[in-house]
Amino acid sequence: MTIKFFDVETGKEINKKTEEVKSEEKEEELKEEHYMLKEILEQPETIKKATEQDEQKLLETAMEILRAKNVIFTACGTARYAAIVGRYLFSKIAKKFSEVIMAHEFQYFIDSVDKDTLIIAVSQSGETADVLEGVKKAKENGAKIVAVTNVENSSLDRISDQTFFLNCGPEIAVASTKAFTGQLAVLYLLAFATVNKIQEVKIELKKVSEKVEEIISQNGGLLKELAEKLKDHQDFYFIARGIDFAIAAEGAIKLKEISYAHAEGMPAGELKHGTLSLIEEGIPIVAICPKDYTYEETLNNVQEAKSRGGFIIGVSDEKNEIFDSWLKIPKIEEIFYPLLTVIPLQLLAYYLAVARGNNPDKPRNLAKSVTVK
Ligand code: G6P
Repeated sequence: MTIKFFDVETGKEINKKTEEVKSEEKEEELKEEHYMLKEILEQPETIKKATEQDEQKLLETAMEILRAKNVIFTACGTARYAAIVGRYLFSKIAKKFSEVIMAHEFQYFIDSVDKDTLIIAVSQSGETADVLEGVKKAKENGAKIVAVTNVENSSLDRISDQTFFLNCGPEIAVASTKAFTGQLAVLYLLAFATVNKIQEVKIELKKVSEKVEEIISQNGGLLKELAEKLKDHQDFYFIARGIDFAIAAEGAIKLKEISYAHAEGMPAGELKHGTLSLIEEGIPIVAICPKDYTYEETLNNVQEAKSRGGFIIGVSDEKNEIFDSWLKIPKIEEIFYPLLTVIPLQLLAYYLAVARGNNPDKPRNLAKSVTVK
């Protein structure tokens, strides 16, 4: 079939360039009950795939990050929580301050974006209208655009100066899982590229992917039981500090999206500035507290919730008597914990949605990719 394009005003035929697009969008045969579970289980493999990046490109972008006057991440939803991990990594590894701005709020900061600004747009689909709009405006102001996306030839890919692909295959379930860990892997590579440690970080990310396998095989049963126990609760709080805060926020959005329960993720230190008044007997509090630089202080905040009757679910490599339920993760070099702690939270959200009789692949009112403003 031949398709012709015409200019609406002049009626003249427009000669369009054709380009073959690699399409993997066929839905493979599903062995698991849902795509979301399939995609969670794929992560040991997809994290490794995300590390397959061109080293020269990583080094060039790392230089841009270090040189830029301002580095701004823009993203929505889960992709924004990946960007928040990136922000902590840039500070800790690259010693570079950056900002994360919700894409739909980005236009209100556009006056401070110029040619010395580097924008890192994170988007699984590369088609989120809010992200594209901000990126277009930033480009008009002369900013450089780096995209972290899963989809080749997406609008974001085409508009950006440099693109890093996640290589994780199509993500079908609305709630993002393997794309999130893929985004993290790319951001770890970029952060470590700024200190010339690409090989070292690749070795660590490979170890991480093996540990993800371990979590999946060890925690499934316990998480199913926990979901059954918690299925009638309507309020959940996720708390953590530092880089782990991004995972608290991601754990909450995942649960909210597919279980239709209210969930909030917040920095643990913020609890006492308001939310503590909502904590009463039996309210589930998920504390992300691996044995890293945040451990002791997060536990102090967990104690505040516990003494008001909160039911504490600890995600940690270290057992603690304060936990009413312990989601065990393996030990790893501390900066990499976000890639591990998110896994039980994805599974918890999944099993909770199933226990509540919801279809986790197609949550009500939500779309996989929001292409309107
Ligand atoms: C929608 C989806 C979210 C997703 C967000 C960003 O709101 O329901 O799950 O995180 O878009 O999508 P993107 O494709 O830009 O990562």
